[in-house]
Amino acid sequence: MFYVNEKELNAIATWFDGFVASFQAGSSEEQRNYDLKIEHTRRVMGFMERLTASMDIPSGERALASAIALCHDVGRFPQYRDYGTFNDSLSTNHASLAVKVLKRQGVLDNLAAESRSLLLQAVALHNAFIIPNDLDPELRRLTLLIRDADKLDIWRVMIEYFTATPGERAAAVAWGLPETGACSERAIAEVAAGRMLCRSLLESADDFKLLQLSWVFDLNFAESFAIMDELGYLETIASLLPQQQSCQEAVETVRSFARSRVLSSA
Ligand SMILES: [Fe+2]
Repeated sequence: MFYVNEKELNAIATWFDGFVASFQAGSSEEQRNYDLKIEHTRRVMGFMERLTASMDIPSGERALASAIALCHDVGRFPQYRDYGTFNDSLSTNHASLAVKVLKRQGVLDNLAAESRSLLLQAVALHNAFIIPNDLDPELRRLTLLIRDADKLDIWRVMIEYFTATPGERAAAVAWGLPETGACSERAIAEVAAGRMLCRSLLESADDFKLLQLSWVFDLNFAESFAIMDELGYLETIASLLPQQQSCQEAVETVRSFARSRVLSSA
């Protein structure tokens, strides 16, 4: 079977707790950044459980999806320790680093080879800008699931970041982009055209918010749209964006796309 049983999932969870506890923070700022990723993982697991519960899939695949959620960001810990940032372009691809950590630590050695391979590939693809369109159906489903579950919690992290006072912020979140109070016209045009923003286009902290918003175009499952709607993410991010007219028009494009997906899944 390609799947994971409860005992195997528990063993990975036990390893995860020990692994994250092994990162010693030298300051409260460092601790805040580690804690952020521990909490993120916990919540991504919660969203994953909710997404898989809404689908007709075997319990073994559900557990494999939970294991992927648990493992997807383990690269964040050595990334932050070694580079002091969560910005992959200034450091290293944290998904590839996660795969290395999982292999080096032998975390998945007891899983069936097929399960291990699916888990590692889904982890490796969780942050890719686009995923190959020739993936096997099972890998494709698991990859889309982790990408949705991840986005559903990254939105929370971003909203908390942008609504916190500077002293309370986990500074590694927004990549140090300048707070210019405006979105760049290039970024706005991409979103208005219904495309997900690519990070190389970002010029300001407000462009970063627009990138978050454009992830709506990359959400896959009906339940994901339902959760996004329930948690009010889109409107909260929209309220944090500048009042620039072109920006508000781009927001409207995202809004109508989301509305069509929520309605079509109702
Ligand atoms: Fe990630």
